[in-house]
Amino acid sequence: MNTGSGTGHSPQVLITRCLPAPVMETAARRFHLLDTDPPEDLPERGTLLDRVADAEGIVSLLTERIDRQLIDAAPRLKCVANVAVGYDNIDLEYAFSRGIEVTHTPGVLTDTTAELTVGLILAVTRRIVEADRYTRDGRFTCWGPTLLLGEDLGSMQVGLVGMGRIGRAVAARLAGFGVRLVYADRRAIPPEEAERTGAVRVPLHQLLVSSDLISIHLPLTGETRHLFSRETFASMKPGAYLVNSSRGPVIDEGALVEALEEGRLAGAGLDVFENEPAIHPGLLGRDDVVLLPHIGSASTATRVKMGMMAIDDMTAVLAGGPPRFPVPR
Ligand code: DGY
Repeated sequence: MNTGSGTGHSPQVLITRCLPAPVMETAARRFHLLDTDPPEDLPERGTLLDRVADAEGIVSLLTERIDRQLIDAAPRLKCVANVAVGYDNIDLEYAFSRGIEVTHTPGVLTDTTAELTVGLILAVTRRIVEADRYTRDGRFTCWGPTLLLGEDLGSMQVGLVGMGRIGRAVAARLAGFGVRLVYADRRAIPPEEAERTGAVRVPLHQLLVSSDLISIHLPLTGETRHLFSRETFASMKPGAYLVNSSRGPVIDEGALVEALEEGRLAGAGLDVFENEPAIHPGLLGRDDVVLLPHIGSASTATRVKMGMMAIDDMTAVLAGGPPRFPVPR
């Protein structure tokens, strides 16, 4: 691994993990990179703490804890640009108290994440991954009238918990399947959008008891952590499905496993996990769950856009200007 590049006059920036090539190339032209060949995998915490010593900027991912210890290890730090829309990996209160600007990448990943969510919904309701395994195992010996029967999305009520950008983009796509849509959010969507998608705002409890499939689109906060608990699962419609492409700790994974084991839920599609990358062992052997390695925003174009947004905001802040995508204070 090489460390250090660029001219003495460029701002010193640490990119914690390797980003797509066009992003790395742009960054190398604009900044003195404190690591010119950052790792693909999780950086060692100790290495990270050493590397940030001279950093004016850190381009981070959701896998790095930007906490008090790391911020204190970077006395010259002016900006953290998180290559993610979520920022629950950052101690915002402490960063702001130190006058550090924090930016994120909203918007560009909305469609990509919504598409993946719809894929997850179809995978779990039509048993696509289970069917793939069945076929590869050589068990497909004859077409069968009762083979691997799933559920029709078009006859379901889908409840969207959280109706921000991604929730709304999922609603727009699901409307095309003819599902009945309800959502729970503090704010109502614009009337024309409600008319276009047919989405009806209801209290969370009503959504839980009446939806055949629930898809979660919430940020992780103190309020949303374990929103899906044993009590929540007990109040859900028996035989409902649960899909989560937001943040893992919104679900109490132990309680989810219990609900699946007791047959209260029909299945789950998860792109995120409570203790990521660890997954509750009770999920791993089940055919009624589809498990993905947090790939909601993982398209080539989107990952380049996210990286570029972060680099552009880093450039702006280190030049003394305002970022375009600050994390709200
Ligand atoms: C985000 O941006 O917060 C996603 O979880 C990763 O793309």
